[in-house]
Amino acid sequence: MTHRELFVTTALPYANGPLHIGHVMEYIQADIWVRYQRLRGATVHFVGADDAHGAPIMIAAEKAGKTPQQYVAEIAASRRQYLDGFFLSFDHWHSTDSPENTELSQEIYRRLRAKELIATRTIEQFYDPVKGMFLPDRYIRGECPRCGAADQYGDSCEVCGAVYAPTELKHPRSALSGATPELRASEHHFFRLSDSRCREFLRGWIQGGRLQPEVANKAREWLDGERELADWDISRDAPYFGIPIPDAPGKYFYVWLDAPIGYLASLKAYCARRGLDFEAVLRNPRTEQIHFIGKDIIYFHTLFWPAMLEFAGPPFKVPDRVNVHGFITVSGEKMSKSRGTGIDPLRYLALGMNPEWLRYYIAAKLNAHVEDVDFNPDDFIQRVNSDLIGKYVNIASRAATFLTRYFEGRVADVAEHRMQAEFGHSAEGIGKDIAAAYEDREFGKAIRLAMAFADEINTAFDAAKPWELAKKLAQDGGENARRLQEVCSLTLRGFQYLTLWLKPVLPQLAEEAESFLGCGAMRWESAALPPLERIRPYRHLMARVEEKQVDALFALPAIAGAAGATPTNANPTKETKVSSSENATAPLSANDTAAAPQPAGPAPISIDDFARVELRIARIVNAEPVEGAEKLLRLTVDVGEERPRNVFAGIKSAYQPEQLIGKLTVVVANLAPRKMKFGVSEAMVLAASHEDQKEHPGLFLLEPHSGAQPGMRVR
Ligand code: MSP
Ligand code: ZN
Repeated sequence: MTHRELFVTTALPYANGPLHIGHVMEYIQADIWVRYQRLRGATVHFVGADDAHGAPIMIAAEKAGKTPQQYVAEIAASRRQYLDGFFLSFDHWHSTDSPENTELSQEIYRRLRAKELIATRTIEQFYDPVKGMFLPDRYIRGECPRCGAADQYGDSCEVCGAVYAPTELKHPRSALSGATPELRASEHHFFRLSDSRCREFLRGWIQGGRLQPEVANKAREWLDGERELADWDISRDAPYFGIPIPDAPGKYFYVWLDAPIGYLASLKAYCARRGLDFEAVLRNPRTEQIHFIGKDIIYFHTLFWPAMLEFAGPPFKVPDRVNVHGFITVSGEKMSKSRGTGIDPLRYLALGMNPEWLRYYIAAKLNAHVEDVDFNPDDFIQRVNSDLIGKYVNIASRAATFLTRYFEGRVADVAEHRMQAEFGHSAEGIGKDIAAAYEDREFGKAIRLAMAFADEINTAFDAAKPWELAKKLAQDGGENARRLQEVCSLTLRGFQYLTLWLKPVLPQLAEEAESFLGCGAMRWESAALPPLERIRPYRHLMARVEEKQVDALFALPAIAGAAGATPTNANPTKETKVSSSENATAPLSANDTAAAPQPAGPAPISIDDFARVELRIARIVNAEPVEGAEKLLRLTVDVGEERPRNVFAGIKSAYQPEQLIGKLTVVVANLAPRKMKFGVSEAMVLAASHEDQKEHPGLFLLEPHSGAQPGMRVR
């Protein structure tokens, strides 16, 4: 096979928050593919970066009292722990707010302008006279022009789904200052995507086998659908955190112009660091440029980005592939920034959960299509414990025990054809299928093939009854001993193959297994694997995931200082306390122990501290048991909002669900939503209980005097 040179990227995360499980899933997908390619001997440049520019980041920095540069630098410093923590083998991590990106963005812009693909046009936009800036759509709020719902975004209504221009909103106001925005004219720069050269080029590019069929269909619809492809507005007015547009004072590139160029900027910085010639890498006709992205940003990557690159000309080249994945959901629910981010990757690591469990689980669920992937806690435990450990890891310990005890760890020389006879399949054949599956990003298939082989190995091992052979070692003129050593050697040989096949997914485990097998670092070559001679004594390669770890991953954080901080040492002067009914069921994570309760009870708080807790009257409109949860009831509560909220409360011991329906109670309405094993809890109900629950069981929900209405504030 010819030597491959790969320039691989993942989408650049916005530098306005921590990485979430969706990012980590994308990086795991790309990393598995990259590691597979490296094992095949390819040269890979795998780079990422922070997407640092844009109005939201500028505004967030201002709120935090920082310069945007300071703000994004702090975010950037937090990335390492995720990348290292999940064994993500990026060669370089950069930022779009960098000299490389400024230079490349301006260069590409100049070249597009020289090709007459840049136009300027004056447009009218809402301007915040108090903040002194033009307002992005999401910072304009008002009444929906269609259904009249209050407080809707400038581009669409969350209530009726209408899509409109901000100028159509009734009673618009700035979400930043509250001021009524004014319409103001300003000159904008456009990338002339409507130009026939762009359309023609894109038609060809989309059909070039670079996209998954479903993605190509989408792109084709955008390109040749009913609505003409419009020119793309690539400029923003000062103040803006971005890259200045050459020869246009006060104008900056819209963040989505310079963001993908950040891929190149990261490659460039990486090349400089490694002494490689950036332009030569791009000009090399063998270099393949491959982007991994999520389904929400297809438009940018299949229309704008290839067109920009094509018309900028060499050394820039158009992407050879754009690989699109679906979204990760948690227990079937979408994660969203406003309602909490599902599984917190750092919490996962802090709980001591093995990053390779997650890599394995995600790999097992991924395929080459744009399908969502669900993280299901029970399924996770099952796949890790029964498949990964039960089928694969345990093979090593089963065979190693006998070899170490009776043969000083010596592995018999086993012919490859004996494997086929023993297990029913040739490892070579399966290896080819698994290789093809990795290449095509059919990771679930790769794992299924490997696990099916693991099943065959285990079955053959059991059928040979090595424990019986071991009892009769001296009999049969040594035949039993020969057979025992052969069975265990074949089994370990099978384990060695599995280790190679799973190495892209489980790099750390593979390294430990290689050291146990004494076979050196394996590569994915067509030749047979290095022979095994002598193994080291088996040490446990991987622990099982415990249910309580997964519970802790989804548990509520301890709420220090706010309602629900629960002193463990009873304060004798206080007979009862108002406690979080959920706390009873929430084990503390490793992180949370830092917020351990003080013996003397919570410290005094100011009235301002108290005001931060938003207590509201709620009507319990439904209550039901939660399957699989001993202590929980699922409550649906009306807090006077459009949509009722879902609350999990640890009050099952004290109430029948029917008793509660229709009752009023008090909830903490601004508690950060918390993803639990069973779903998202969006508030907390308040209940009284004795300090010593063992001696004095009983749990009493708070109920307001009559006249209180759902949504009323309690203060
Ligand atoms: N900054 C842009 C990308 C610029 S690329 C030149 C952006 N950032 S993002 O932080 O919102 O998303 C980064 C990546 O994470 C995208 O590929 C996005 O699809 C992916 N995901 C965001 N949420 C996700 C899930 N719930 N599941 C899987 N991937 C998700 O968009
Ligand atoms: Zn509406």
